[in-house]
Amino acid sequence: MLERDIEKVLVSAEEIKEIEIRLGKVLTADYKDKFPLVIGLLKGCVPFMGELITKMDIQMQVGFMDVSSYHGGIASSGDVKIEKDLGIAVGGRHIIIAEDIVDTGKTISVIMDLLMYRGAASVEVVTLLDKPAGRVVDLHPKYIGTTIPKEFVVGYGLDYEEKYRNLPYVGVLKPEIYIK
Ligand code: PRP
Repeated sequence: MLERDIEKVLVSAEEIKEIEIRLGKVLTADYKDKFPLVIGLLKGCVPFMGELITKMDIQMQVGFMDVSSYHGGIASSGDVKIEKDLGIAVGGRHIIIAEDIVDTGKTISVIMDLLMYRGAASVEVVTLLDKPAGRVVDLHPKYIGTTIPKEFVVGYGLDYEEKYRNLPYVGVLKPEIYIK
């Protein structure tokens, strides 16, 4: 049913699974004995983070923050509002922020600064999708699933008007869905 609204698949379910296995192995090696705190930014992180952590064969802790960015017109406003805070002390902790997409980079940049300010030992980003063409701040995620062009994508956590997050792949919507 959802598939009929999709123009093309950009990252297939099989590719996503391969990405999760690959990044899970890398994070397992890099964070061995570091007891990382993996923080998901709701709600887009849910499918990717949920699968990724099952591919990390180390002791870890998970936490969530609900953060919303307000985007106006063609550019992000840069206002990042914390709707729900972490509730876990981060002093001295090695943190991995799990994201579905890094676009302008403003959301991640604000949250990374906040966690460092709170005393984290390290903060890195793992993102399923990187859209470097959208970047307005100097931010380079350390762990990237795949790089995508500057297209509006949905699925696997990413929404259009809160819908399509449950697609098992990442795709591009048919224009008639958002041009009304
Ligand atoms: C999306 C996405 C990232 C952020 C990326 O979240 O999940 O957190 O935007 O954009 P940026 O790099 O331009 O800051 P959104 O605020 O739409 O909330 P959601 O996760 O609930 O969809």
